Amino acid sequence: VSDEDLNREKQQILPETRWFAISFQRCSSVFRKSMQRNKQMATGRKKFNMDPTKGICFLIDSSLLKNTSDDIAQFLYKGEGLNKTAIGDYLGERDDFNIEVLHAFLELHEFTDLNLVQALRQFLWSFRLPGEAQKIDRMMEAFAQRYCHCNPGVFQSTDTCYILSFAVIMLNTSLHNPNVKDKPSVQRFTAMNRGINDGGDLPEDLLRNLYDSIKNEPFKIPEDDGNDLTHTFFNPDREGWLLKLGGRVKTWKRRWFILTDNCLYYFEYTTDKEPRGIIPLENLSIREVDDSKKPNCFELFIPNHKDQVIKACKTEADGRVVEGNHTFYRISAPTAEEKDEWINSIKAAISKDPFYEMLAARKKKVSSLKGL
Ligand SMILES: *[C@@H]1O[C@H](CO)[C@@H](O)[C@H](O)[C@H]1NC(C)=O
Ligand SMILES: *[C@@H]1O[C@H](CO)[C@@H](O)[C@H](O)[C@H]1NC(C)=O
Ligand SMILES: *[C@@H]1O[C@H](CO)[C@@H](O)[C@H](O)[C@H]1NC(C)=O
Ligand SMILES: *[C@@H]1O[C@H](CO)[C@@H](O)[C@H](O)[C@H]1NC(C)=O
Ligand SMILES: *[C@@H]1O[C@H](CO)[C@@H](O)[C@H](O)[C@H]1NC(C)=O
Repeated sequence: VSDEDLNREKQQILPETRWFAISFQRCSSVFRKSMQRNKQMATGRKKFNMDPTKGICFLIDSSLLKNTSDDIAQFLYKGEGLNKTAIGDYLGERDDFNIEVLHAFLELHEFTDLNLVQALRQFLWSFRLPGEAQKIDRMMEAFAQRYCHCNPGVFQSTDTCYILSFAVIMLNTSLHNPNVKDKPSVQRFTAMNRGINDGGDLPEDLLRNLYDSIKNEPFKIPEDDGNDLTHTFFNPDREGWLLKLGGRVKTWKRRWFILTDNCLYYFEYTTDKEPRGIIPLENLSIREVDDSKKPNCFELFIPNHKDQVIKACKTEADGRVVEGNHTFYRISAPTAEEKDEWINSIKAAISKDPFYEMLAARKKKVSSLKGL
């Protein structure tokens, strides 16, 4: 079924303005629902920061998180808005399920071809190590297993990796804590780690590299800045900064675009609570264009109706919602690659026309009735 056929069918059922009202309502409602979800997500994060287990339960009960170790690990690894102390506490718990999450969390870390200090930097940045010895033990054990899995042959056993990791963390404190007066030399560090490779010695240059790395740069402990990103949509098809050519005033404005559910939204800032504009994609087409002023341009337009204004809404500075005045939306992407990605995503979104699916289902029903 071509776009044309689809449009003709739509026109037969409802006049154009009604279609637009429906499309627009749908996009607004998609937006409202995701705002609601965001609110719940924010509540879940707050709860997590106060009591990790309760927070996770809340998110699972609200269907914002699946109750699987992989999904929870992913959530902690992304860590958006989460207190890293709370992440550390949760991952360190003795419960079987928490240990499963801990291992899934480590699988999200890629340590291949990193030396032990580089891997530890990455690991220790993703949460704050809890104070409790048992918790630290479980976490360092999981770390050592993952490191050895990613780098087979570097150490004789996981235990070697575990012991050396502790030695390196202690070295960090000795070298960088001003209260420690007696700074170990590389010789002493090497001597202290004699025989830890299942009775054998580790290569001296390996130990020297680790020593130098820590000496030059201490491990950083992540700040708990509680960064509160307002994520407008949960899993948008695509989002990013683009330049948009104005409808009435022909100036280029930088806007944060989000594509989701056959609607294209744009915002002035990523943290805006309301979109500046909503463009329902039903009935539109997309093409690449050359622009004399900007590179990597593409355009949303109405096929075969060059001069018709695209139905879309935007919010004025004073908060009034007005109809847009675009016969086309010309947009410039920062790179050729991003342009192609946007075009492909928008094409895919347009071809998943929810009205088409609705119509198709209804037609099937009607034709099956006819057959009776
Ligand atoms: C959809 O596109 C057709 C042309 O393909 C046009 O006649 C019609 O007015 C458009 N409808 C809306 C709601 O924009
Ligand atoms: C999640 O699943 C585990 C079993 O895998 C169960 O013990 C726990 O109660 C579940 N949590 C929630 C919040 O449903
Ligand atoms: C490493 O040393 C620095 C400086 O003393 C300290 O801030 C940091 O907490 C230490 N890191 C670890 C993992 O002990
Ligand atoms: C993170 O949690 C710890 C422990 O509960 C707390 O001391 C710290 O203030 C929290 N950080 C933020 C930014 O809330
Ligand atoms: C829309 O823009 C055109 C010029 O591109 C202008 O002539 C027209 O008056 C504008 N319409 C509104 C409603 O602003």
